Amino acid sequence: MSASPALKAALADAAREIDARFDVLLAVPDDARANLYRAMRHAAIDGGKRLRPLLVFATAQLFACDRDCAARVATALEAIHVYSLIHDDLPAMDDDDLRRGRPTVHKAFDEATAILAGDCLHALAFEILADPATHGDPFVRAELVLDLARAAGPAGMAGGQMMDLEAERAAFDLATVTRLQAMKTGALIAAAVEAGAILGRVPPEGRIALRGYARDVGLAFQIVDDLLDVEGDEALAGKKLRKDGAAGKETFVSLLGVEPARERCRMLVDQAIAHLRHYGPEADLLRDIARFVLERDH
Ligand code: IPE
Ligand code: IPE
Ligand code: MG
Ligand code: MG
Ligand code: MG
Repeated sequence: MSASPALKAALADAAREIDARFDVLLAVPDDARANLYRAMRHAAIDGGKRLRPLLVFATAQLFACDRDCAARVATALEAIHVYSLIHDDLPAMDDDDLRRGRPTVHKAFDEATAILAGDCLHALAFEILADPATHGDPFVRAELVLDLARAAGPAGMAGGQMMDLEAERAAFDLATVTRLQAMKTGALIAAAVEAGAILGRVPPEGRIALRGYARDVGLAFQIVDDLLDVEGDEALAGKKLRKDGAAGKETFVSLLGVEPARERCRMLVDQAIAHLRHYGPEADLLRDIARFVLERDH
């Protein structure tokens, strides 16, 4: 992984924090639900880049938000992400056997348990956000819930996943693929940045630069996922690659080709960093994250 020392430390911190929180939240009960909790732990603990939590932390830090509040919100964002991965891997969707270097949940357990583990992580995210421990102001909590619900639902991640399935059959143009990617992957990344701004009580008119940053980072992130699918290393990725082409799926890479897709990523990352020009060194972590998105190998 090519990352600055500051970014490496921040990624490791985010990973440690999220693991510790899921460890407490997902303690295995001594009853017939034990496998459901084991399945959630299998998917949620010790794995993944924790990019969305890190975006919450990096944005919240701009506004000197309380670290515990930010960590709760970061855990909620990751819970939605992990649920989306469990369901994305199901036989009815991408039918994948490997995720984060381990068997997918439906392989390690079974399909019904995987579906329910996803359902529970989805609910858990909103339970965390709505809990008074996340923020003392109910208006802040309500805004966090509203924004994440929009990002996860039919106008966001789940809607994008539907379009992504259609992309195997339909001949989508670049504008449609851009919209698909912005929904499927961009919405949750944008919600992570937005959550930091909500916690910081930044009024909507003060969020324009951060929203521009998040939109560009989100799009670049998914284009790199598509590039890695074509030319990445499966051992590093911890998931099966070369799937999009085999499925005949329209992506930026299938529409533009590898080099132009990479060039577009570079442009998006430069643009993301340019959105932060009015911030000082306090936004360096966000700048590092944008560069990492381009350089990541998994
Ligand atoms: C994979 O997300 C699915 C996409 C939205 C592209 P990540 O690449 O963030 O996966 P983890 O969390 O690191 O496993
Ligand atoms: C999944 O996109 C995005 C989600 C919302 C889960 P992909 O299907 O491309 O993700 P990978 O490549 O399996 O991680
Ligand atoms: Mg998919
Ligand atoms: Mg997939
Ligand atoms: Mg992919």
